[in-house]
Amino acid sequence: MKLIFATGNEGKMKEIRAILKDLPLEILSLKEAGIAVDIDENGETFEENAVIKVKAVKAVLGEEPVILMSDDSGLVVDAMDGQPGVHSSRFMGEDTSYHIKNAEIIRRVNAAPEGNRACRFCCVIAALLPDGEVLTAAGTVEGEVAFEERGEGGFGYDPIFYLADKGKCMAELSAAEKNSLSHRARALAAMKEKLIPVLNRG
Ligand code: IMP
Repeated sequence: MKLIFATGNEGKMKEIRAILKDLPLEILSLKEAGIAVDIDENGETFEENAVIKVKAVKAVLGEEPVILMSDDSGLVVDAMDGQPGVHSSRFMGEDTSYHIKNAEIIRRVNAAPEGNRACRFCCVIAALLPDGEVLTAAGTVEGEVAFEERGEGGFGYDPIFYLADKGKCMAELSAAEKNSLSHRARALAAMKEKLIPVLNRG
């Protein structure tokens, strides 16, 4: 069975292939499957966006019997009423550097009453099966907004995502360490558990 993952991000593809490697699936990126699709991610939740993405790919692909998978993720900050959330990549503008976005999040959290620094990375994976059934699986990792950026690893909001039990920001972890606890890895592991019975029923 073919599985097409709706991303152009090679880092994600590596993570997906590693986690799903023992399933009987040929895993392709959109590019490898020769699919070009422009997706308007206008959902209000991570789950809505993940489902919008698989359905958009299905509309282009037609009836080919494959599993289509996608993810949507972002940073949820309690003191910002859950922002940037589903707007994580668009927060303050798509072209604004993460150095500036991170500084703004620190500023807003520092100004919040009661010193609430809690935040989490969330990810929802959606899978559209050949019979039209949609499966979803979520993963989160809890953290705190740091007082300053730390670390050179990862991407995006990783330098301000402080993991109290590690005493480090996400950007200070090795790629292997991040992949062992990330929201995406957890969502993928949960999705894998849902896919196994589907693949077994043939
Ligand atoms: P997407 O789901 O790949 O579109 O990610 C949405 C946005 O969420 C990214 O552009 C980042 O701003 C943020 N984000 C998602 N996952 C991570 C992560 O692991 N580290 C840092 N930022 C992330």
